Amino acid sequence: MPAQLVNILYLISAVLFVLGIKGLTKPKTAVRGNMLSATGMLIAVLVTLTDQQIVSYEYIIAGMLIGASIGAIAALRVQMTAMPEMVALFNGFGGGASLGLASATYLSILDGANAVVESANPFGEGILGIVSLTSIGLTVLIGGLTLTGSLVAFVKLREWMKSSFSLPGGPLANAVLLLAALGAIVAVCLDPSNTTAFWAIAAIALVIGLSLVLPIGGADMPVVISLLNSYSGIAAAFAGFILGNTVLIVSGSLVGASGIILTRIMCVAMNRSLLNVLFGRMAEGGEAVDADEVYGGKVKSTSSDEVAMLLETAQRVVVVPGYGMAVAQAQHAVRELADVLEERGAEVEYAIHPVAGRMPGHMNVLLAEAEVEYDKLVEMETINPTFEQTDVAIVIGANDVTNPMAREDKGSPIYGMPILHVDKAKTVVIVKRSLSPGFAGLPNPLFAMDHSLMLFGDGKKAIHEVTQSLKE
Ligand code: TAP
Repeated sequence: MPAQLVNILYLISAVLFVLGIKGLTKPKTAVRGNMLSATGMLIAVLVTLTDQQIVSYEYIIAGMLIGASIGAIAALRVQMTAMPEMVALFNGFGGGASLGLASATYLSILDGANAVVESANPFGEGILGIVSLTSIGLTVLIGGLTLTGSLVAFVKLREWMKSSFSLPGGPLANAVLLLAALGAIVAVCLDPSNTTAFWAIAAIALVIGLSLVLPIGGADMPVVISLLNSYSGIAAAFAGFILGNTVLIVSGSLVGASGIILTRIMCVAMNRSLLNVLFGRMAEGGEAVDADEVYGGKVKSTSSDEVAMLLETAQRVVVVPGYGMAVAQAQHAVRELADVLEERGAEVEYAIHPVAGRMPGHMNVLLAEAEVEYDKLVEMETINPTFEQTDVAIVIGANDVTNPMAREDKGSPIYGMPILHVDKAKTVVIVKRSLSPGFAGLPNPLFAMDHSLMLFGDGKKAIHEVTQSLKE
């Protein structure tokens, strides 16, 4: 295929990737966005397969069939609550693929050179050789740490490993390991035949991945996964430099950049710095809050019948979903309740906090699965001013994202985290199983407010009972 045509087709795939990402920013256009990106990837794969010198199409087709079948089965069978761990695993595979590609390229160029030339740098003369070897070294480093880091993230999210522990030396050891890996890359640049230094880069990278992610708590994993996702993109972009493949450089850079942006959005929405996520714990730095002091004698429990009575006269109801809705798989029950309320003439909207749940867009995906109309999912900034005109706010399995301490208590570890102003509603019904804290491990004064009522129980069952009472 002529080089110009290849580049034009690569440009088309790159444009499709960008349009695809743009489409993913809104639920309405997300499916189309996904299709556009997938088409871009198909074009890129087909062009690469016809353009590059392919060793054996049989192996490629067999690999694609096996890989695609495993991917399709995994994606079809995965539970919505297990989505973050699947993303973690796939990120790891991406990093592993870059690591494998860089190692294979290095070894094959070295082998070819041993057979033909003896002294010249087979990776290119002068600066070209250095760029090519640095790309290989960085791909191995970033790909390797993404592989083991993502595997640890997967294991933690699966809850196969419940405790967090640091390898000896903590962050300082990581810095030393990183310097050692960079030193090994320099050694390979100086002497490309130094395979010991090459394998040292790979070994150190795998240890850095373990040492970075092992100390981080399972609940912080979504941020870590987004960061590792960005790393896997950067590794792929470097791999693009090794192969001289433009579309790999573009797509890798897109993944790298979007992963970093997403990581930042999550950190801002939790009011935490990335360093705090990577090296600190959520509750550190704040004053301990005594749950008895917050709740003692002030919490009022209610029943489904009482909630149904409240809802009977409500004109405007806002549903505030959180992680517990995902655990209880209550989205269909919630939608059924909303349908009944709307039939009775009430206005129902859903308040969506950017980090409600455990992954970006968690609530949007669940509610879309229950076929709630997109227009009814209202973002935090837009819905917050409307809580004062809301008759009943139903908080289902949400906790931290409604905690007024984030607004009022300067000593609180979550002070400054943007929250949904649920407490401004005329009446607040909170559906959860107990007074247990959420992810941040803090008591929530909302539960003890005069106009708050606790409906204790599993989210799905409790909402279902309210709907039944309302119908009766
Ligand atoms: P959380 O504050 O974690 O609270 C979830 C609540 O759900 C718990 O208090 C729990 O109380 C309740 N729950 C659990 N299972 C339930 C069930 N079957 N039925 C009813 N309730 C149930 O959740 P949130 O308000 O969504 O906040 C999210 C938190 O995760 C934030 O702190 C955020 O910073 C953090 N986080 C989010 C992300 C992303 S990207 N979304 C990433 C990292 C961290 P009971 O046990 O009493 O039922």
